[in-house]
Amino acid sequence: MEGAGTGAGIKAGRSAAERKGIMASRDTIRRKPKDTKGTFKRLFAYIGQYKWILAFVLVLCFVSNVLALIGPSLAGAAINEAAAGAGKVNFDRVYYFAGRMLLAYVFSSLITVTINIVMMYVSRHIAKGMRREVFAKLMRLPVGFFDRNQAGDIISRVSYDIDVVSTCLGTDVVQILTSVVTVVGSFAMMMFLSPALAVVALLSIPAAVVYVTKMRAVTQPRFSKRSKNYGIMNGFVEEMFSGQKTIMAYAYEDRVAEKFDRINRNAANAYYDADYYGVTMGPTVNSINNLGLCFIAVFGSFLYMAEAITLGGISSFVLYSRKFSGPINEIANITNELYSALAAAERVFALLDEPEETADREAALELVDVKGNVALQNVYFGYEKDRTIIHNLNLAVGAGKLVAIVGPTGAGKTTIINLLMRFYDVDQGSILVEGRDCRDYTRKSLRGAYAMVLQETWVFQGTIFENIAYGRQGASKEDVVEAAKRAGAHEFIMGLKDGYDTYVGERGVKLSGGQKQRISIARVFLKNPPIIILDEATSALDNESEFEVAKSLAKLSEGRTTLTIAHRLSTIRNSDRILVLTEEGIVEEGNHDTLMELKGMYYHFYEMANELK
Ligand SMILES: Nc1ncnc2c1ncn2[C@@H]1O[C@H](COP(=O)(O)OP(=O)(O)OP(=O)(O)O)[C@@H](O)[C@H]1O
Ligand SMILES: [Mg+2]
Repeated sequence: MEGAGTGAGIKAGRSAAERKGIMASRDTIRRKPKDTKGTFKRLFAYIGQYKWILAFVLVLCFVSNVLALIGPSLAGAAINEAAAGAGKVNFDRVYYFAGRMLLAYVFSSLITVTINIVMMYVSRHIAKGMRREVFAKLMRLPVGFFDRNQAGDIISRVSYDIDVVSTCLGTDVVQILTSVVTVVGSFAMMMFLSPALAVVALLSIPAAVVYVTKMRAVTQPRFSKRSKNYGIMNGFVEEMFSGQKTIMAYAYEDRVAEKFDRINRNAANAYYDADYYGVTMGPTVNSINNLGLCFIAVFGSFLYMAEAITLGGISSFVLYSRKFSGPINEIANITNELYSALAAAERVFALLDEPEETADREAALELVDVKGNVALQNVYFGYEKDRTIIHNLNLAVGAGKLVAIVGPTGAGKTTIINLLMRFYDVDQGSILVEGRDCRDYTRKSLRGAYAMVLQETWVFQGTIFENIAYGRQGASKEDVVEAAKRAGAHEFIMGLKDGYDTYVGERGVKLSGGQKQRISIARVFLKNPPIIILDEATSALDNESEFEVAKSLAKLSEGRTTLTIAHRLSTIRNSDRILVLTEEGIVEEGNHDTLMELKGMYYHFYEMANELK
């Protein structure tokens, strides 16, 4: 099934591609209101999978921080020894305390390193798991999704957004755990050293908390904007990539560069804007905390004079108060990171929540023994609810018959194929295969009955052999060569340096349009389906390759039901039946001769084509 493998269905010409771009950017700008709590919950479900590792990390965190908390009290003890005055100091005791202190800090650091390594592992695993999930989701999404969304924006979600999320989960969770232990521990120590001084030290805390909470409202939307802008930028780069030749042909480089500058500037500004508040928050909170330090210095001196606290006690207290305020400074950073992760996670979850291709009916049958009878009955369909494109279409193609559809651009020819392949489902009426509604069959078996040859061929990175063997799983070398011979591709393949092992695709040998087309025809021969669909299969080729490819196609349609759409009427003259489709529906029907006699639209087309020649 050529083409379907790319994920996206058949593109409906440039207008559809353009609309897709516009719709995608509109989608990313206008989004539903945020559900912060729900997103948080889902995020935590991801780390929840590692609860045993997290429990271990929690213990390590606790030990490391308790060790670090012992430090200041040992420092205080050493200072108290020194405070005995000149000549009276017991240096053995000072060294003893200092040595203990050093040991406590070294162990604490070693444990912290271990924690970081473990969390790095967790974070990478979360990223890997999320990417696997998102990719699997992409495979289950209907064609309509790919028609509506920009590839670049999706790629941005898979790479940038998932990275932001997993990094945050890996580092911030530990930060939060550490902070809790440190704040609680140092507060307890401060209370133990001097409750009065502890109350003074706490005076500045409410100011810091109020400030941080206020700032959160300012920063959160900025992080959402940042992620969105990245999506838009990636979307634009992707569009430029696929339209590069058109851009050059129309000498549009400057204007594209200008537009990119604007988008890039927006992305950079959004980044700056979000980080601006991040970087100002830390120092501000720090100053507020330093105010607390001033209070401690002044009030501590009074207490010392009143002999309510020792010198060592004051120095321990100061060290604890620094430890205590450290995490409060960090709250600013952590909230920033959490909010940027939240914004990124929302984009990832939005993708994961996209409606999937509807499931097959419960008692869906396997479509087997297909003769090739296909019919459309009173079919109505529109891509958008309020714009019907196919109105009450009736069409029957008998087994082994060759039916051609011609008609003006935008009439809905490609749309019919999208419906036959069930890339989209009809709004009303039904499509019958072997007399049964195609929705009664499993999608997989239904699609297995068709093969498509489209104007745009899809050749992927790999050898020619692999590209042809794609048509049927487990095809042998002989099968592939046989199919290539029938498709008229064998000769040019043998002319390539490595024959069937030649590497093709973006980084391999470049093939011409006709060569690619014959590879995809070989793929269809290999698949050997009862029904084939040709949509402008030769219209991108020059005359000579068109002739060659048309020969292969004629061979392909022998004995199969064939539905062909062609602009060049010469290629469909021999069809059993020709339908002229316009926006009003089928307006003429018959074989070439009867339609010519009718002197209607078909005749008109034909005459016009001849005049051109
Ligand atoms: N994915 C889509 N979403 C919304 N509208 C679409 C989509 N694809 C096609 N259309 C619209 O449906 C109509 C029929 O398109 P279709 O591609 O079937 O035309 P066509 O007959 O194949 O034309 P052409 O000869 O140019 O290939 C057009 O008006 C087109 O704009
Ligand atoms: Mg078309």
